[in-house]
Amino acid sequence: MFRPTAVTLTFYLAAILVVNTSAQSFKCPDLLSKIPDRCDKLECRHEVDKNLCAKDTIYIPNFSLCECCPQCVRFLTPQDVRTACTNEESEVVWTPDPDCVDDSQCAVQVNKCLPGLICNDFNHTCELPPKDEIPEHESGECMFRKSLFRLELTHWDPDCEADGSFAPKQCKGTHYDGECFCVNRAGTRIFGREWRIQAENQTCACSRKVSELRARSLIATLHCAPDGNYEPLQCDTDSGICYCVDPDTGKMDGSSVPQYQWKNLPCFSVNLTNWEEDGKYLRKCESAFAGGRELQIFGKEHGTSVEMREFKCDYDGSYAPVQIASTNTQCVFKNGTRIKDYFKPNDKAMTCNCARDSEEYYPFHKRPLSLPCQMRTGNYDIAYDFGSHASCMDSDGFLYGDMVPSTYFCCLLKEGCAPVIEQSCYTNVTELGYKPCDYWRYRN
Ligand SMILES: *[C@@H]1O[C@H](CO)[C@@H](O)[C@H](O)[C@H]1NC(C)=O
Ligand SMILES: *[C@@H]1O[C@H](CO)[C@@H](O)[C@H](O)[C@H]1NC(C)=O
Ligand SMILES: *[C@@H]1O[C@H](CO)[C@@H](O)[C@H](O)[C@H]1NC(C)=O
Ligand SMILES: *[C@@H]1O[C@H](CO)[C@@H](O)[C@H](O)[C@H]1NC(C)=O
Ligand SMILES: *[C@@H]1O[C@H](CO)[C@@H](O)[C@H](O)[C@H]1NC(C)=O
Ligand SMILES: *[C@@H]1O[C@H](CO)[C@@H](O)[C@H](O)[C@H]1NC(C)=O
Repeated sequence: MFRPTAVTLTFYLAAILVVNTSAQSFKCPDLLSKIPDRCDKLECRHEVDKNLCAKDTIYIPNFSLCECCPQCVRFLTPQDVRTACTNEESEVVWTPDPDCVDDSQCAVQVNKCLPGLICNDFNHTCELPPKDEIPEHESGECMFRKSLFRLELTHWDPDCEADGSFAPKQCKGTHYDGECFCVNRAGTRIFGREWRIQAENQTCACSRKVSELRARSLIATLHCAPDGNYEPLQCDTDSGICYCVDPDTGKMDGSSVPQYQWKNLPCFSVNLTNWEEDGKYLRKCESAFAGGRELQIFGKEHGTSVEMREFKCDYDGSYAPVQIASTNTQCVFKNGTRIKDYFKPNDKAMTCNCARDSEEYYPFHKRPLSLPCQMRTGNYDIAYDFGSHASCMDSDGFLYGDMVPSTYFCCLLKEGCAPVIEQSCYTNVTELGYKPCDYWRYRN
């Protein structure tokens, strides 16, 4: 087997650096591509700002210079019928953008389909996978959504990790009234949110950690702040020790005390999440959960089994918005009491996002929100009519799609249209007409 010596490696690196300055289509030599830590030895020529990549390109963190350096990449779409796509890595060709002026942000065109699309082997054009066959795998899903955004089939361009999974923090809406949410690797929303304008230091690191621990059925006593970062003061109920951590990373800073002295910690402040006047550290839902567990253990020791109600606690120790009460699924406040008449027999599609936002979250932050929620479920409705205009709405309460005059509201829902309106729904307005909400591939 060939072992690269320092001399040959230096030779190849030098060759790459020379070639790369003249042509971005340079491909990685086989020899070099087999060296596992080659990227540590290479220096990328340009800082590529992912926010500056052209709208029809995708930022790939490991692309050029033997998959070590970032690049804005233009992939093939189903509309690119003149360039044949390929599935074979060996047939991939890069073409530098001839019109590019700003060298650092220059895109390269590749003859591969957008991530998640399929290259049809017979006529060599790109195709979307069938709608009901979208693989629910974690890695790749985020990149696929990015592709759909480039094809104008979804309204939101998510942030992906290098492995193709969702980044922990995802932002929607404008800088001023938008919000950032924490999500798991598959893109499902988990505990943690912040107004976009204040989200600069939001990492969602704590939420990600707790979500991963719970997915492995481990009970985490870690507490997250409302934005999904670590709460500075942590208590471990099993060992009875309280300690301070760095809110961004969760690293202990060295101070720890027995639980009853928790107020003496330097990170203690009266503004700790869900702090209560009686000085208890455990939070409402968590207390109920812990109480139930103790009762169960007590019962077991005394030969009886205690039926335990299932509490779904949020990562700050409060009640999660969706709870199961006997045969109903219901929306609750953080303190566990039901919100209005938002309950339904066993409904897995309930998010309670609208109920929580309009009845608790927005009023608490002194922001008005006067949208009616979907009856019973407490979800945001599919579309809203604001009186003069109407629009589709996603599951987090963000508008998307065509903003249409109210007359055409029924076109968005594809129901309840008078025949004369229905005729003009998708033709009268523009060449394509208004897109109904179900035209978009995802609602979140
Ligand atoms: C390529 O073939 C597929 C079916 O195999 C077809 O749906 C698609 O329209 C074709 N594309 C072109 C550009 O001919
Ligand atoms: C980039 O990294 C991902 C995950 O680490 C890997 O699957 C992929 O092959 C790498 N290279 C390119 C060009 O995407
Ligand atoms: C983020 O952290 C920096 C440094 O600690 C601080 O100066 C800044 O005010 C923080 N931003 C917000 C929005 O809290
Ligand atoms: C706690 O929060 C309130 C209002 O949010 C603020 O006025 C007060 O200064 C905060 N106190 C501390 C110790 O941070
Ligand atoms: C729970 O919280 C809601 C909203 O903050 C409040 O209206 C309600 O009275 C609280 N219920 C209890 C039992 O504390
Ligand atoms: C269709 O468009 C025409 C002209 O652009 C307009 O006069 C007519 O009112 C439209 N029809 C409907 C139902 O809005």
